[in-house]
Amino acid sequence: MSAATAAAAPLVSATDIVQEYLQPDGKMLRVLDGVSLAFERPSINMLLGPSGCGKSTLLRMLGGVRPWNVTTPTSGAVQIDGQPCTGPHPDTVMVFQSYANRPDLTVRENVLYPFRFAEWRRRVPAAEAAQRVDAMLDEVGLADKRDLYPSQLSGGQNQRVALARSLVLRPRVLLMDEPFGALDAQTRTAMQTLLIKLHAAHPCVVVFVTHDVTEALLVGDRVTVLSTQPARIIDDFAIGEPKPRTQGWLSGDHARSLHERVVAHLRASGARGNVRVSV
Ligand SMILES: Nc1ncnc2c1ncn2[C@@H]1O[C@H](COP(=O)(O)OP(=O)(O)O)[C@@H](O)[C@H]1O
Ligand SMILES: [Mg+2]
Repeated sequence: MSAATAAAAPLVSATDIVQEYLQPDGKMLRVLDGVSLAFERPSINMLLGPSGCGKSTLLRMLGGVRPWNVTTPTSGAVQIDGQPCTGPHPDTVMVFQSYANRPDLTVRENVLYPFRFAEWRRRVPAAEAAQRVDAMLDEVGLADKRDLYPSQLSGGQNQRVALARSLVLRPRVLLMDEPFGALDAQTRTAMQTLLIKLHAAHPCVVVFVTHDVTEALLVGDRVTVLSTQPARIIDDFAIGEPKPRTQGWLSGDHARSLHERVVAHLRASGARGNVRVSV
């Protein structure tokens, strides 16, 4: 592929994605039904939809993660820089709700962990890795917790460790699967603010899955709304309001109309009680 073609390609794209899963009764369950999305510039992109609609399926696919024994996608294509994405990509990192921190490693060792792998040892010299980790621990506010173990941390602090471990790799694409979903409302708000700050310092394409409309409006530069299963895109809009966004903005006319529009779309698509509409 020529340099000109590569430059024109979106950083990440999903085209006409269909995903079906074989059910125990032998029937096929269609989860994603013709989803197309492209992300080009550093921005925070919210994928909003009801529980069970297929958000994690789509996010894992963007990260090149293949479920065992399932053809993914059933049809359609995921590309990174215009190239087919068929497995995990070194510029793409995922963050999960469950943190995925190792209980036997300290905070600092957890953040340093990816540099144990050959690919990352090759890419980043050990001294630079150590430097990045210490700077990142400062940025996420965990410098004084560096020698503690995950069991000695709160949920929010554990998620800071996971975020730090992702960002030390300087990913071009950061995929986040309901990362703050298990946190209490106050901690979730603090983490949203932290993510906005970290993203300004380390711009990349963030694709952030949530079923919380308020979270989507507070954090997103763009919000893509998925219908109930099988998921299709039922709304997709940009939000230009500068961040961090205030409670005043959130309760103002613009945010309220966006909120009502999203909820109306979700209700029309059949979503019932599984969309959280406020923090
Ligand atoms: N590997 C799999 N095999 C079979 N069914 C699956 C698999 N992964 C997900 N599903 C089903 O696909 C649907 C969507 O799941 P998921 O993508 O996790 O939704 P969400 O993240 O929006 O809650 C669910 O009905 C789930 O049971
Ligand atoms: Mg999910």
